[in-house]
Amino acid sequence: MNVLIVYAHPEPKSFNAALRDLAKSTLEAKGHVVRISDLYAQDFEARVTRGAFRSAKDPDMLNIIGEQAHAWKTDGFAAEIKAEIDAIAWADFVIVQCPIWWFGPPAIVKGWMDRVFVPGFTYGRGKWFETGGLAGKRAMLSVTVDASLAAYSARGRYGDLDAMLWPANLSLRFVGFDVLKPFCAPKVSESPEIRRHSLEAYAARLAAIEGETPLFFHAASDYGDDDLLKPGLKPAASSPRDA
Ligand SMILES: Cc1cc2nc3c(=O)[nH]c(=O)nc-3n(C[C@H](O)[C@H](O)[C@H](O)COP(=O)(O)O)c2cc1C
Repeated sequence: MNVLIVYAHPEPKSFNAALRDLAKSTLEAKGHVVRISDLYAQDFEARVTRGAFRSAKDPDMLNIIGEQAHAWKTDGFAAEIKAEIDAIAWADFVIVQCPIWWFGPPAIVKGWMDRVFVPGFTYGRGKWFETGGLAGKRAMLSVTVDASLAAYSARGRYGDLDAMLWPANLSLRFVGFDVLKPFCAPKVSESPEIRRHSLEAYAARLAAIEGETPLFFHAASDYGDDDLLKPGLKPAASSPRDA
């Protein structure tokens, strides 16, 4: 596989960097080719502005989706966005490696999605979910937290990790990825033993990652014109809607 690790942490000596390096070495040992988008090192812009585009379809009013669609058709993206689009197009498997900050990925990861998951490339004109532009590729969030896994369980203090990560996983699925269950390293600041245990668990998971079954999402065609599941279908997504 061609593997893209989208890495979001400002500190090269962070545990997130250790997880990134472990993923690279583990996957390369299995014969995969690994590339890294280091968003902080690239000084990746998180805000959607006119800077995303080399020209303007409408200079009077910034219609973001309109400008993105136009830039997609005219090869009009700024270099840093084009580089990310090309990297995703190259990849069979995308890993997003980041800490959890305020119960979600850091702003720079959201900005990467806002600016890179553009219409034409990833969705639009009937392309979404299983027909999304990135269909056939896989993606996985790999996150770190300072709390315990118990805290992120259904009865835990902070609630179910899958519910917390639902917006990010839904975005990945919306554009067509088959989404693998997130990897979560808990209690990162507590002890070297816990960090070592997480590194071992992540390496074991990655070594067998090709055989994993993606999370279940309903097909777009399971929903009617009223945006509800068609009669007779039960909600079965790997999401808060399980409950
Ligand atoms: C701004 C900020 C917000 C944070 N919010 C959370 C949080 O919501 N939940 C949590 O478990 N840890 C939270 N943490 C702790 C980080 O998740 C933790 O420091 C990080 O995962 C450790 O990995 P690192 O050493 O690679 O930075 C937060 C840390 C920062 C700096």
